[in-house]
Amino acid sequence: MAWDPKLYSSFAAPRLRPALDLMARIAAESPAQVVDLGCGTGNVTRILAQTWPAAQVTGIDSSPQMLEAAAQESQTITWTQADMGTWAPPRKVDVLFSNAALHWLGDHGRLFPRLAGLVAPGGWLAVQMPHNHYAASHTIMAEAAAAGPWADTLVPLAGRFPVGDPGFYYDLLAPLSQELDIWESEYLHVLDGDNPVVRWTMGTALRPLLDAVDGDWRQGFLDEYSARIARAYPRRADGKTLFAFRRLFLVARL
Ligand SMILES: C[S@@+](CC[C@H](N)C(=O)[O-])C[C@H]1O[C@@H](n2cnc3c(N)ncnc32)[C@H](O)[C@@H]1O
Repeated sequence: MAWDPKLYSSFAAPRLRPALDLMARIAAESPAQVVDLGCGTGNVTRILAQTWPAAQVTGIDSSPQMLEAAAQESQTITWTQADMGTWAPPRKVDVLFSNAALHWLGDHGRLFPRLAGLVAPGGWLAVQMPHNHYAASHTIMAEAAAAGPWADTLVPLAGRFPVGDPGFYYDLLAPLSQELDIWESEYLHVLDGDNPVVRWTMGTALRPLLDAVDGDWRQGFLDEYSARIARAYPRRADGKTLFAFRRLFLVARL
């Protein structure tokens, strides 16, 4: 799947806040090795590097477009192109951080214990993932996927969502952790512009569907999705659009 760094970054401020909320719960004092899995354009990775200036900081991402944008902003961070589902560090790390990325991988029942095993004793695994597949922004993807001649192609791609309930991650990580903090927050993003929820999802969750069709089907599907989203997320009297977004946070001290 191709990522568009510019489109993704167009909601940089509301996307940054959960990352900062996650970082605030990591009580590492002077970690030597810090890794940001699914670092994207690196704006959060750079904050990790500022927080722990003595650490060796590495950003891992599979997208060359995202890494190219990241490398333009910082040469002191190591940017590595790799699949975070199989990547392993040469030695265990002190902080393994991942913001808004691990929901792109399946089989979390195997993934999370594997990630915990990459962290040094006393180190930290800190993860934030969207947990909003019940929200209209996502259910309407499946509805629009089924509502046209593109259905055979798009229905199998819609509605894939590997993120489990908090208790699922508790059962996986509690036996491996000295401390485990799990919580959810629902952010109420206040967005500007025309049908901004569509622009938001075009930068992320809608991309695999848009990449799978072209021409009239791509436009038809996007029109169908946009019309339904405009009804589900109407503009307020002041011209803003409210976008409620639930996110799951996990901070484990191993
Ligand atoms: C929504 S962006 C989040 C970027 C960054 N963590 C942030 O908070 O701004 C998700 C990132 O995960 C990356 N990604 C998705 N699947 C991946 C995989 N299997 N291996 C490595 N990176 C992946 C994408 O390339 C993208 O940059």
